[in-house]
Amino acid sequence: MKTITTVSELRRALAEVRRANKRVGFVPTMGYLHDGHLALIEASRSRCDVTVVSIFVNPTQFGPNEDLSTYPRDFQRDEELCRDAGVAIVFAPGATEIYPAQFETFIEPGELAKPLCGGFRPGHFRGVATVVSKLFNMVQPDVAFFGQKDFQQCAVVRRMAIDLNLATEIVTVPTVREADGLALSSRNRYLSEEERRRAVSISRGLFAAMEEFRLGGRNVDKLIAVANRYLGTVDRLQYLELVDCDTLKPAVSPLHRPAALCVAAYVGSTRLIDNVIIQASP
Ligand code: PAJ
Repeated sequence: MKTITTVSELRRALAEVRRANKRVGFVPTMGYLHDGHLALIEASRSRCDVTVVSIFVNPTQFGPNEDLSTYPRDFQRDEELCRDAGVAIVFAPGATEIYPAQFETFIEPGELAKPLCGGFRPGHFRGVATVVSKLFNMVQPDVAFFGQKDFQQCAVVRRMAIDLNLATEIVTVPTVREADGLALSSRNRYLSEEERRRAVSISRGLFAAMEEFRLGGRNVDKLIAVANRYLGTVDRLQYLELVDCDTLKPAVSPLHRPAALCVAAYVGSTRLIDNVIIQASP
């Protein structure tokens, strides 16, 4: 496994890979890797010859009052996990390698970036779209892997890939959860023991709504209300919304198209997001 910090070195390493006609899989991350990230790496390994993982805490997707400076980092551990997982290249650039002085060109996503997290994190998806397109230009992957945990991010990236004719196939990997249901997240490490216990109500609420749907519930307000019953234990609910999977616009009753039940909530001072897809099984 090679660890590379500059774009020029990355291009050199990937030129060799391409000469050998190998299929390149890419997993962009902000590091502090957990089993969710490892599931993306595994998906890449199973579909591609060479897997590139980027580790870059992207400043442009953090708001002024968010956790950029305290975002958890452990590069050595990340490197070891990548090596054990069979990653070929870890790309870990510094901030100026990605954002040179006078940087001023951004990718502006449209309607898909407005609801849900978009309403609470202005500029977040602009930062995500910009860094993802830059990383795609650097790595030029055949396939890139994203987690369903960040459902809106997947939607924004897929739309961008279509709109900008990117040559990269986008694959979404299901959310990896703790045994009790809590979605894995680098931010879970901020939770105290007591907060960790309360955080599980987020996934419990989502699963309860899935069960309501499975039992025939098709009323949007009812499905949301069922999930909401569990969310009394969080400290601040930012949103709990059932949205159409394709448009991210509010789902309509009676539900007959795939919808995503999405939640963002603070437990203590930690903001957690999660979602489930609600649809009739095929
Ligand atoms: P990060 O939060 O590090 O997540 C990297 C990738 O791992 C994302 O695609 C995310 O959806 C996925 N992921 C996180 N938790 C997961 C879980 N429990 N199960 C499955 N996948 C999970 O998302 C970002 O970084 C950044 O926005 C990035 C795309 C790297 C751009 O900076």
